[in-house]
Amino acid sequence: MSKKPFYITTPIYYPSDRLHIGHAYCTTIADSIARYKRLAGFDVLFLTGSDEHGQKIQRKAEENHTTPQAYVDNIVASFKNLWEKLDISNDDFIRTTERRHQELVQAVFQKIYDQGDIYKAEYEGWYCTPCETFWLERQLVDGKCPDCGRPVEILKEESYFFRMSKYQDRLLQFIEENPDFIQPTSRRNEMINFIKGGLEDLCVSRTTFDWGIPVPFDTKHVVYVWFDALTNYITAAGYLNDREKFAKYWPADIHLVGKEIVRFHSIIWPVILMALGVELPKKVYGHGWLVVEGDKMSKSKGNVIDPIALIDEFGADAIRYYLLREITLGLDGNFSREALINRINADLANDLGNLLHRSLSMIGRFNDGVVEAPGEPSAIDQELIELARTTAARYEQDMEHQDINIALKELWALVGRTNKYIDETGPWALAKDPAKKGRLHTVLYNLAEVLRIVAILISPFMPQTSPKIWRQLGLKADFAGVSLHDAQAWGRLPVGTVVAKPEPIFPRIEEKPAAVPAAQTTAAPAQPPEAAATSSLPEITIDEFAKIDLRVVKVLAAEKVKKADKLLLLTVDLGTEQRTIISGIAKHYEPEQLIGQNVVMVVNLKPAKIRGIESRGMVLAASCDDKLRLVTADMPPGSKVK
Ligand code: ME8
Ligand code: MG
Repeated sequence: MSKKPFYITTPIYYPSDRLHIGHAYCTTIADSIARYKRLAGFDVLFLTGSDEHGQKIQRKAEENHTTPQAYVDNIVASFKNLWEKLDISNDDFIRTTERRHQELVQAVFQKIYDQGDIYKAEYEGWYCTPCETFWLERQLVDGKCPDCGRPVEILKEESYFFRMSKYQDRLLQFIEENPDFIQPTSRRNEMINFIKGGLEDLCVSRTTFDWGIPVPFDTKHVVYVWFDALTNYITAAGYLNDREKFAKYWPADIHLVGKEIVRFHSIIWPVILMALGVELPKKVYGHGWLVVEGDKMSKSKGNVIDPIALIDEFGADAIRYYLLREITLGLDGNFSREALINRINADLANDLGNLLHRSLSMIGRFNDGVVEAPGEPSAIDQELIELARTTAARYEQDMEHQDINIALKELWALVGRTNKYIDETGPWALAKDPAKKGRLHTVLYNLAEVLRIVAILISPFMPQTSPKIWRQLGLKADFAGVSLHDAQAWGRLPVGTVVAKPEPIFPRIEEKPAAVPAAQTTAAPAQPPEAAATSSLPEITIDEFAKIDLRVVKVLAAEKVKKADKLLLLTVDLGTEQRTIISGIAKHYEPEQLIGQNVVMVVNLKPAKIRGIESRGMVLAASCDDKLRLVTADMPPGSKVK
């Protein structure tokens, strides 16, 4: 059976400048959808590119004392470099200066002219010469150019016009009959209102500059840059030069664009296609804008975020995850460094990283690394298996509707549930009792199996992380060959798989710790733990108690201290910094059991060297006879205990 085709595009960006995080956002979304579709068995054509003509580019080149072609060549190389670093899997990259495209634009222009839908007319309007822009009377501000404030003059120019007005009713009818054509719905309503206001014929040629595709029958004119740019989508699909390819991929399934250019894609573009007698795309999706720390990005504000620097600092997968998880497609979103670091630490290092680490280290320690056959599932296993199944099914629904952040949220609910499953089933206790071996095998199998499923389902978003998890799980099958179906069937992890030693997939990001206020650094008098008889302690005042800085801390990592059977080495998060402490609780807790727990710690205890390791703090525990339990608090790290 031949695969079903799927064609998705991003806008072709202007190479007037390097790309910023907003462009990276759009392309990451498109890439994730493309990768998801490939995973789901589709034959995908994923296109991105550059929109290289027009006055703006010509001016930029002049400012830089170079030719437009040399100027764009340089910037386009930086686009391609960015997409490589961001793991963008585009199948083609179209440049509007390529011959295949220039020829197509000329052929299309000629065809529409020949049939009478492009005509020559005199354009008369208010013209701002410095800006080289025509304005309507009502657009002027105090009779002057709304852009630069300089005087305007009446100018007549001969131009070619595209008879958009002729197609107004057909376009409106199409949009009304195809509710999915413009998404989200708010954008659709805007467009309907716009068209109802009346479509005017569009000026589609210019004579005031020459960096463009010449009108084939009147080379004084160059084709209007948007007319040129929009047709890129059919050039790359093979219109006029590869019939078979065009028949396969056209109409495009999704043109993903920013909200500011939905109008070009849902009005001008469909009318060009109608004039050509070509089917319209299935969907134009207008995504929202990214602001930075609440502010619009702009060069003058100096807050333009360079995606390359971010990738170098945090890695492509972390950036991709953040953009996709944090922002609802279609709505505007905020980029914040703090939120990015929080996501990396909480979702990637803690939730996913710990699940992998705990599971693999327990399989290593309790089963010599072998994933043994599971036994009959108990109720709690059934619940986990059911959640894994419904998550994989819902994921497909979400992704088919471009609800990427919801798909991720649901995946992380599965990760969270599985971490809790470890705490509830307590494999460390099962491992101590030979009679519970079967149960231990079941629990460990289920953990590895959830990880296998998660590795597949996160692959459209984090293409580097998935194969890493796959390898650590010891799976023999080539990750490149997996499909969505493999994630939707429970139990595909082969019994007898030997897992590798876990390696961190996302190191925690430590921002410079905030300075600790002086009051907190004064060491409280250390209480010898032996002096424990309640009644024998003298009374203290509230001020004396207040000298003890008690905080909630989150256990990030825990491991046994070599040759010390009572000690655990803990890494804890105070919210503002991380610390290493040694705690004498190894007889009462397995390391895996502690990870992710929020416990109470004395943070201003004088540091002590234990077995050569500096311990900076002490966690509180309640003890009775030979039992011991840490004091936990369901509060964020850093919360003060008083
Ligand atoms: O408009 N937040 O190119 P362009 C989110 N060449 N997305 C953003 C963004 C932001 N702050 N800034 C830009 C053009 N984008 C034309 C397109 S298509 C036939 C021609 C993204 O370089 C968003 O997708 O100005 C937006 O639509 C696109 O970049 C505009 O890129
Ligand atoms: Mg723009």
